[in-house]
Amino acid sequence: MHALAPWGRSIASTPKGVWSGARGFRPQVFTRRCMVAPALVGGMKQQNFKTFGSVCAVVSVSAAVWKGLRNPLPDEASAGQSKTVLVTGGTTGLGLATVQRLAKRGDHVITCGRNAQRVAEVNQLPNVTGFVCDLAKEDDIEQFVYQVKAHLGERPLDALVNNAGASRGGDPVLAIRTAELDAAWNLNVRAVAIVTRDMWPLLTRSETPLIINVGSTCSHPKFAGAFSLTYPLTKAALRSYSNSLRQEVSLLKPSAQVVHLTTGAFQTGLTTDVPKKYAEVLSSYGPPFADFAEVLQQRTAQGFALLKPKCPDEFAASVAALVHPVTEHKVRLSREYRLNVSTMERVVPWVPQGLLDYSWVSDCKGRVPSCALIA
Ligand SMILES: NC(=O)c1ccc[n+]([C@@H]2O[C@H](COP(=O)([O-])OP(=O)(O)OC[C@H]3O[C@@H](n4cnc5c(N)ncnc54)[C@H](OP(=O)(O)O)[C@@H]3O)[C@@H](O)[C@H]2O)c1
Repeated sequence: MHALAPWGRSIASTPKGVWSGARGFRPQVFTRRCMVAPALVGGMKQQNFKTFGSVCAVVSVSAAVWKGLRNPLPDEASAGQSKTVLVTGGTTGLGLATVQRLAKRGDHVITCGRNAQRVAEVNQLPNVTGFVCDLAKEDDIEQFVYQVKAHLGERPLDALVNNAGASRGGDPVLAIRTAELDAAWNLNVRAVAIVTRDMWPLLTRSETPLIINVGSTCSHPKFAGAFSLTYPLTKAALRSYSNSLRQEVSLLKPSAQVVHLTTGAFQTGLTTDVPKKYAEVLSSYGPPFADFAEVLQQRTAQGFALLKPKCPDEFAASVAALVHPVTEHKVRLSREYRLNVSTMERVVPWVPQGLLDYSWVSDCKGRVPSCALIA
């Protein structure tokens, strides 16, 4: 396995990289080093004391800068033209972090969400245009596509990030309501296929169009969970969709790229109160399924306690690095990348016999730096 960080040594020399080291600079320690150490040496003349203090100051600042050089903040290429990017579901969580990051660097970002209040809030951000849309509804998608086309006019769409998605657990495979199957499918798969199809003509106007599909680690073929049907099912389908899309796109426009992000845990609404939510869903089905609600809640809580969800900003940094690849450290596009898969390794000791089978995580041996793009 070859790890490719989207940020490279080149980034280390950016002011931000140096700043990440400088953030570790502590004035108290600095003062102690400059003032106390010479005093300990004792018997120093005033002149030598000042010289020693200056040397310490230089060493401390250099160490801070060096730390920054060695531990750069992940960052996309700071230079380069701004792009037009459509991020679905950009009003909260990973989508919002991505919208904010891209807009801040000067990209023109279009997004959507169901909640009108939150859409109005993102519309306040400079460079962001948001539309109210329920991607699980056919009419809404049609209207959204029309709005985006009217908004862009003849301008190209450089990147499409199919991020909007929902996770739901607790539905028993043998009793699941048809409406739940439809809801998950419509948002997590169908909407992606329709939006991508309808945005393709706009994407082809760009020289190097990019499509990013936000998948999940639970799409792994060995992931098998009782009372956990729709999310793994739809994310596995999305992964398959990405593979087919990549093949076709490479035939139609070889410069276009398709990236599937197999995403681990991040701190968002999607990962909040999961054990309780799952148990409530399962309870709603009544016996005999509801009898497992308590154990499902306990086991899910145990599993989540082992996960280390990352900050959405780290996800946004990786997406931004794909949209604006660092030239010296070319990220290989048109493939699948895993974000934060190391979190899934932490679930290994959990192995909740008969309830969930996470044995596949042994495939992910080795420490994976959080949010690096792994090829
Ligand atoms: N967080 C994680 O740990 C994690 C892990 C793996 C994969 N992912 C994937 O990452 C993506 C983003 O998840 P997240 O964690 O950021 O979730 P989130 O915080 O719940 O955000 C979801 C976003 O999608 C929008 N959305 C939801 N349903 C929609 C619909 N029917 N139509 C239009 N927009 C809709 C939401 O806005 P409204 O509610 O206003 O509609 C919101 O902006 C999803 O595809 C998810 O499967 C997340």
